[in-house]
Amino acid sequence: MNHTEPKKILFVCLGNICRSPAAEGIFRRMVEKQGLADRFVIDSAGTYGGHAGELPDSRMRAAASRRGYELTHRSRKLTEDDFRLFDMVIVMDDSNYERASRTAPDMESVAKLHRMTDFARKHVWDHIPDPYYEGAEGFELVLDLLEDCLSGLLDSITRGDE
Ligand code: 4NP
Repeated sequence: MNHTEPKKILFVCLGNICRSPAAEGIFRRMVEKQGLADRFVIDSAGTYGGHAGELPDSRMRAAASRRGYELTHRSRKLTEDDFRLFDMVIVMDDSNYERASRTAPDMESVAKLHRMTDFARKHVWDHIPDPYYEGAEGFELVLDLLEDCLSGLLDSITRGDE
């Protein structure tokens, strides 16, 4: 891991009100707990801008809060510039991947795209399921999967794989 420049990580989902702000909040707390906060820039965005300016969905905020994560991000749409600024752009599912790759300005940018579930260690899911039209269990599942994948991501970065 490069010790001078912070690693810049952007989490991306569709609306930027459920999965990616949760990923941002969980990852932020993980790096803080390990004393690594100054080594990272962490943010989130959505491929759909219809919720821009909103706080995360109240169901996601409640579920996250029960696990000790306070989600205060304001939704925003993914931009071309995000691909210039961030080192890794981590998406939740294939649809996010496809939509984000259409925003990516060049091949170098496409190479920054990663799937969240590629960092999983315990769970065998190939995507983080969209909880928006689901019940409360959908939000708990998202948090379970994200906690697993994000600890895998942090390990892979601190090991120097990413
Ligand atoms: P997210 O969930 O992509 O995890 O933020 C969704 C939020 C909003 C919508 C879909 C998914 N929507 O259709 O408005």
